[in-house]
Parts: sequence; structure tokens; C-alpha cells
Amino acid sequence: MDKQVEEIKRAIGSDRALIAVSGGVDSTTSAALVHRAIGQNLLCVMLDDAFMREKEPKKVAQLLSQPPLNLPMKVLNVQQRFLSELKGLRDAEEKRKKFRETFYKILGETAKKEGCRFLVQGTIQADILETKGGIKTQHNVLAQIGISPAKRYGFKVIEPVASLYKEQVRDVARYLGVPAEISERQPFPGPGLSVRVVGEIKIDKLEALKKATTIVEENFAKHDPSQYFAAIIEDSEMPQHPSMEQMRETSARYLNVPARYLSMKVFKDKATGVKGGERHYGKIVSIKAQTADGRIHQATVKDLVTLQTKVVTENPSFTRILYAIREKPQKQPYVVSLRAIQTHDFLTAQVSEIPWTTLIETAEKILGSCPKVSSVYYDVTPKPPATIEME
Ligand code: XMP
Repeated sequence: MDKQVEEIKRAIGSDRALIAVSGGVDSTTSAALVHRAIGQNLLCVMLDDAFMREKEPKKVAQLLSQPPLNLPMKVLNVQQRFLSELKGLRDAEEKRKKFRETFYKILGETAKKEGCRFLVQGTIQADILETKGGIKTQHNVLAQIGISPAKRYGFKVIEPVASLYKEQVRDVARYLGVPAEISERQPFPGPGLSVRVVGEIKIDKLEALKKATTIVEENFAKHDPSQYFAAIIEDSEMPQHPSMEQMRETSARYLNVPARYLSMKVFKDKATGVKGGERHYGKIVSIKAQTADGRIHQATVKDLVTLQTKVVTENPSFTRILYAIREKPQKQPYVVSLRAIQTHDFLTAQVSEIPWTTLIETAEKILGSCPKVSSVYYDVTPKPPATIEME
């Protein structure tokens, strides 16, 4: 850490630097390191881009500007700008690229206005590996893929934690006295909830997702997954899929439920996955298995993951398998998918064995507070073949 602080001092000198802080462990640790090196010449901005969680921008800005961090924080309300730039886009990579472009345009303008020649970023090793590998466009990896930040946006980039993995960044954070609320926090992607609104971003869809996110975070934390969240999907189906019957039979056999009690759905929007180390934008499939009295069959997560392997192997165009937890009798525009995973490096991940009592409680709360959501599913796909985020 001492070496990094010295290097940052030498690189920035008496210039000013800007950092976009989200309150995540990577950007906060980077900000704290650079703040040690250059003090008040660092400006921390929180881009309130419409994709943060409920009340998050205010809460995070308050926490970071207080002791022990005392970071010089400014919150920029740029919600309308992001929402209008992303309006109408459905494809995951198009959304990610537009997010990145808008993010850097705003930062470039802010750096110019504030007289900052340097931009500090919390890029970590996994971000670089995944962007280089072409899995998905990370919001913050530029130079590594040949985009010159100086030419395109007018600033030089400093990445103090780029050689570290998440757990190592947490160590640095603890050492720096970053509050545990942040150093132990689950990761949150740079493009925020925009990558959890599958397909087109619509205001009512985003609002429902924010409510569902709060509920999942409250209910899943006690099981201590590495990451846990909700995603929202439009409840619109592809016309009958050719392998549906075969899939139904496979699922019936694996779950030991008669095929007539099983229903499946292939969604119109797709989700990002990985196949043979490469990006694979594939189909999302849901499975609902009922008992003879019409209740949801509570299969074990282990069995559901085994079934998922079988279904994905037989149907390589699928990257996500969702299993029904609860649904309303009346169809609404959206469904919610819950995700919880265990991982060390975030490059691969296992599905967490969340107990059914928690799954049901969470699903019922979501259905109760989100009128436009009619079903809640548990995502039973490991990484690979899925990625952790939906997009
Ligand atoms: P995936 O979805 O690629 O996620 O399996 C791996 C980890 O990275 C996070 N993630 C991101 N973090 N900017 C970030 O700062 C991004 O664009 C981004 N995309 C994914 C994700 O939440 C998970 O922890």
C-alpha cells in the first residue's frame, strides 16, 4: 500500500484527479488510496444514474464523506441522461456499450469542468480478464482493449487496484479502515441495475426491480452467499420451442414428477452466458413443476442444478434455467428471477443452496409489493454456462 501511495503521488503530482465512486469495495478502496496520496486534489463523484438501489446514492455519499474516510464527495444527478441514452435498447452488449459511452462522456465533461487531468478507476483483475476474453463489456475497462482514454475522453487513467482480485481488494480496504459496510459488501456491477433489467429498460420495470432488490437483499443476507440479487424479465414468450416436449420429459424424469404437472417457457429476451471460455448470448427458460394438489414442487437446489446441466447439454442455445417458486393467478407484464451464488474469484460460480422457506418468503414479499410482477423464479444456473449477472 505504501508503494502504491508513493507511485500515485509521483504519477499525479500536483494535478487534480477525478474518481466515480459507487460505494462498492473496488472504487471506494481506490478512492481511499488516492485520497491518501493527493488529499483534497481528489474529487469523488457519485453518478446517480438511475440504476443504483433504493436510497443508495444519498446513503453512500454520506458514509464516504464522514470519518474515517472523509472523501470529498459530490453527487451528480444524471438519471435522465442515462435513461434517454438507453431508451429502446434490448441487446445486452448494446446496452453495456451505451452505458460505458454515457458514463465516460459525463466523466470527461466533469473532469474538464473541475480541471482534473486524471481519472482514477477501481478496475480489478477479473474485469480485465473478462473484457479481454470478450465475455462482456465492463463499464470501466478501456486501455486494456485499445481505447485511448486520453484521446477519446481527455484524461489519463490511474488504476491502483488493477493487479488485485476481489478478496485482495477487501484486504486493502480493511487495512485502510474502510467501514465494514463497504469492505465486506457484495459486489455490485458498474452499470448497476441496468444489467438486471433484462432487455429494454422501462421505468415501471426498473421501479419493480428496485423493490425486489431491497427484499432479496434483506432476506438472503443471512445465508451469506458471495452475491445475491434480483433481475426482472418481460413475461413474453417465444412461440413453441422445438425441443419443449423433450425438455419436459427430461425434467419430469429428473424431478420425479409426472410430465403433465410440468410447464416450461422460453422467454423472448436473452441472457449472457459463457461457453468454452467465450461469450454466449442464449435463451432463458423457466420450469414449473407442480404436485398433484397444484402446489409448487420443492425440489432441492442440488437436483435443480443437476437438471439444469442436463437441459443445457441437450439444448446448447440455453444459458439460463429458472425454477418457479411462486406465482400469481393473473399474468402481469414482468417476472422476477432471484440469484444467489458462491464463488471465490467471480470467474466461476456455484448456485447457493438457499432453503425453500427463504425462497418462498422472499417470493411472496415480492409478489405482494410489486403489482406488475406475476412470477418469481430461482436461477439455478452456475457460471459457466451462465454469467453471474443476467446481461
Ligand atoms: P459476470 O456477470 O461477468 O460477473 O459473471 C462477474 C462479477 O463482475 C460483476 N460485474 C461487473 N462489475 N462492472 C463492474 O464493476 C461491470 O460492468 C460488471 N459486470 C459484471 C458482477 O456483479 C460479478 O460480481
